Amino acid sequence: MHPDLKEVLFTAEQIHARVQQMAERIAADYRDRDPVLVGVLDGAFIFLADLLRALPMQVRIDFVKWSSYGDRRTSSGVVQLVKDLSRNVEGEHVLVVEDIVDTGLTLRYLVANLRTRSVASLAVATLFDKPSRRKVEIEADYIGFQVPDEFVVGYGLDYAQRYRDLPYVGVLKPEIYGRT
Ligand code: PRP
Repeated sequence: MHPDLKEVLFTAEQIHARVQQMAERIAADYRDRDPVLVGVLDGAFIFLADLLRALPMQVRIDFVKWSSYGDRRTSSGVVQLVKDLSRNVEGEHVLVVEDIVDTGLTLRYLVANLRTRSVASLAVATLFDKPSRRKVEIEADYIGFQVPDEFVVGYGLDYAQRYRDLPYVGVLKPEIYGRT
């Protein structure tokens, strides 16, 4: 375990198994339509890469990036589109791929934005969900794991751009994020 962590919540094996299960459910639900996976940068790129390879059907991918002022613990509630989709999604079956839903603000803006583009269908897959932190009522359609209200990092989740590379997810020691 990385020395900055106080515990591991989900091992690489547990995450791998859960991603496969999610892919099976998604594959069954999308058996007659090919989705466009829309990854929310930056954190979702690892989950999207693994999910993509676990899905048996043809999928297109695209990415958006939204930024909230303040960090993940002190979100101001204002979310801004920083990078838009590269291609038109009108008439497409869009599956948003998130690493974590926390306050729900990013997802609310993103879903509202995508709904204006005449998509054929819209659903959301998130690997992690932190319902205890929710500020707006919104739920993903596919959820990997619920996480407690702790500072979790790894498998794409960062603190100050670090720890995204960890293959597992763990809780950061309070003295690490309390320092800055
Ligand atoms: C994280 C995560 C979600 C968002 C969720 O992104 O990837 O997009 O926060 O938080 P919310 O539900 O409170 O809106 P972040 O802004 O930390 O950017 P990153 O993915 O580049 O780390």
